[in-house]
Amino acid sequence: MFSLVWLMLLSYSNLVTTHNLSPHNALQPKSIFILAGQSNMSGRGGVLNGTWDGVVPPECRPDPMILRLSSELKWEEAREPLHADIDVDKICGVGPGMAFSNTILRKDSGTGVIGLVPCAIGGTNISEWRRGGRLYNQMVDRAGAAVRAGGGLIRAILWYQGESDTESHEDAKLYKKRLEKFFHDVRSDLLSPVLPVIQVALASGLGPYVDVIRKAQKEIKLPNVRCVDAYGLQPEPDGLHLTTAAQTRLGPMLADSFLKITAPLPVQSSGGAKRFSHFFLDILVRWFR
Ligand SMILES: *[C@@H]1O[C@H](CO)[C@@H](O)[C@H](O)[C@H]1NC(C)=O
Ligand SMILES: *[C@@H]1O[C@H](CO)[C@@H](O)[C@H](O)[C@H]1NC(C)=O
Ligand SMILES: *[C@@H]1O[C@H](CO)[C@@H](O)[C@H](O)[C@H]1NC(C)=O
Repeated sequence: MFSLVWLMLLSYSNLVTTHNLSPHNALQPKSIFILAGQSNMSGRGGVLNGTWDGVVPPECRPDPMILRLSSELKWEEAREPLHADIDVDKICGVGPGMAFSNTILRKDSGTGVIGLVPCAIGGTNISEWRRGGRLYNQMVDRAGAAVRAGGGLIRAILWYQGESDTESHEDAKLYKKRLEKFFHDVRSDLLSPVLPVIQVALASGLGPYVDVIRKAQKEIKLPNVRCVDAYGLQPEPDGLHLTTAAQTRLGPMLADSFLKITAPLPVQSSGGAKRFSHFFLDILVRWFR
């Protein structure tokens, strides 16, 4: 009897040790991508009547080369739903992030281990993402933590937002200015003035001013800001969110758009410059807290 308990204890402690030594703790991303915006970036694919169906298509499968930064700022192997511990007030499902990452891995061997930093929150408008606001600070904080936890480089922001700004004419009219300012602010706070931004143009929305938002999104002409169009991608029966199938098409669209940007890597040198910029990012992040 005693020896049985002893054996159980032993194997339990073995399990714990193996778990702690799992390779993910050692894995560190080389290329970091920030995911931000509202529900379609967070992911609602497969969410019906308040439950996620749990279906993960092959395009969105986990891979040891794809990590995510958890809400506790730890790197772990990424799996759907990517935003489960971030967009906590909603039921999360499949978004574009995993399909994006799997496409990048397949098409560009130089990207190395990918680190996703989920930051999207459902139902948020562009004003809530303004510099100094809670969502903005959280994103910049998490971006800073992502760099500190392993020293990868932030390669791009994937941004899918706008539906919440389709309802008032005033908001819709101001959208382009606000969005440009947001891109400008994030890039300057991440010390990466031409950081690639891949955004998604809305196909439709509940408010009457979808066309104004869409036009604003497509008209933004800033270096390395690209726009992929969600027009024609299938919504869920709720009419409000992309299905899992649509997200598996959107992910590769975002990836292809990113891979077309031939921007030089932001300070790739392993020397002083990189440490220098990380040092400042660190200070900034602390300052914003
Ligand atoms: C969701 O709810 C609707 C109406 O309540 C019902 O008709 C439908 O079958 C439900 N779908 C699922 C997948 O449970
Ligand atoms: C944006 O969302 C916030 C919080 O839901 C709300 O208070 C605000 O009125 C919305 N619109 C603008 C333009 O701030
Ligand atoms: C999600 O994306 C689809 C396709 O662009 C769009 O029609 C819908 O309004 C979006 N929903 C939200 C809540 O952003």
